[in-house]
Amino acid sequence: MGLCTALCLASKGFDLLGVDIDKKKVDSLRGGKPTIYEKGVKPYLSQALSRGKTRFSDKFEVLAGCDLIFVTVGTPSLPSGGIDLSMVLSATRSIAKVISGDFPTVVIRSTVIPGTSAGRVRPILERYSKRRVGKDVGLCCNPEFLREGQAIEDTLHPHKIVIGAGDRRSTRRLVSFYESFYGRPVPPFILTDYSNAEMIKYSNNAFLSLKIGYINTIARICEKIEGGDVGIIAKGIGLDQRIGSSFLEAGPGFGGSCFPKDLDALIAFARTLTAEHRILRAIKELNEDQASHVAMMVRDALGAVRGKTVSVLGLAFKAGTDDVRDAASLRVIKHLLRMGARVKVYDPKAMSNARLFLGDKVGYGESMRECIRGAEACVLMTEWREFSRHKPDYFSRLMKRPVIVDARRLLNTGEFLGKVEYHRLGLGKAHPT
Ligand code: UGA
Repeated sequence: MGLCTALCLASKGFDLLGVDIDKKKVDSLRGGKPTIYEKGVKPYLSQALSRGKTRFSDKFEVLAGCDLIFVTVGTPSLPSGGIDLSMVLSATRSIAKVISGDFPTVVIRSTVIPGTSAGRVRPILERYSKRRVGKDVGLCCNPEFLREGQAIEDTLHPHKIVIGAGDRRSTRRLVSFYESFYGRPVPPFILTDYSNAEMIKYSNNAFLSLKIGYINTIARICEKIEGGDVGIIAKGIGLDQRIGSSFLEAGPGFGGSCFPKDLDALIAFARTLTAEHRILRAIKELNEDQASHVAMMVRDALGAVRGKTVSVLGLAFKAGTDDVRDAASLRVIKHLLRMGARVKVYDPKAMSNARLFLGDKVGYGESMRECIRGAEACVLMTEWREFSRHKPDYFSRLMKRPVIVDARRLLNTGEFLGKVEYHRLGLGKAHPT
């Protein structure tokens, strides 16, 4: 989020300073090498560096004189489900010590629980800068809604801009910045206080998680209906504008660095308030259960999995990224290993990240072909295009037994049913002919 925000700012001609305490990251970015796989980042980085108005540093001191400082550090989960604010608070402290000039404004882009900007960030900013928020320093909470894989596109074309502040001057500063950044027409603004801005971010992500949990539940019912197909149900209900068609793709459950963590944080927050939140707990449980359901689909297809080789195609939590954090693939692999399967994995982008989580518990295929060769079942876990390019006989030729569990509903049902042992999530048994 930090890198994409920075590169988008640079692309519009702003003078940009990117700061990270990780010197390796800074060196890599200075050399034009992105530290993540994300569409568009590489060319945007080269352009930014060649224009000469972008610099990267591991020293906070360079921020002296900056008008706007965006804080985009992580807020990882604590064992309690709550979030670890240490990076946000220490970044704020370091920034506060060096800011200068007329009304420098600190913008919290990181996802933080209601109460954080006003109750935790503001006191640190005021103490270490020796300034008063609203008087001679600005503070806004400005959550982001960009998706990995489309982060640049989402930053350049957001569906809204949410700004929370406790004073008009901070709000005005950020509104006028975004007006100059986007030009006309500006995206819709939601101007509010800190806590509502913070809560919008969590409610937004929890609602999208709810849609996924809901369609996965409908998928499970469809699997028990003769001829049932969650795809047509999603299409049918999605046309109702009150529901909308997005986030109705049934699958192995949501993953990534945001939905699971944010859901946990919202649950932990609601618990501290003793506020009703059963629906949030249900989404979480359903999502975890969906991975065990996929593993059961493999078991049901094979009879038993102990000692059998199962290949897992796709490790990234979704296509278009190399990120495996909290990916459904990891949950499914855990179940398969527990059931005694020999697991072999392949992902076109996420192999090195996956190794950090899976170590030597699984085998690694250099390619899709190598991964499925000799396997008795394969599970499609990420919707990478390259997995859907092949015909059924490709699988029958390479696999010991061509059992395909399509947890992403990626392959063409008409083409695969009857040619291989094809099991598609959210699809009921065919009508008897
Ligand atoms: C999500 C939100 O979509 C962003 O708006 C938000 O800014 C971001 O979190 C964040 O909090 O920073 P992201 O985690 O990149 O973005 O990924 P999504 O595209 O939302 O997908 C999340 C998970 O849901 C993936 O595992 C994906 O496969 C799954 N998903 C998504 C489904 O299973 N079905 C769907 O219909 C859509």
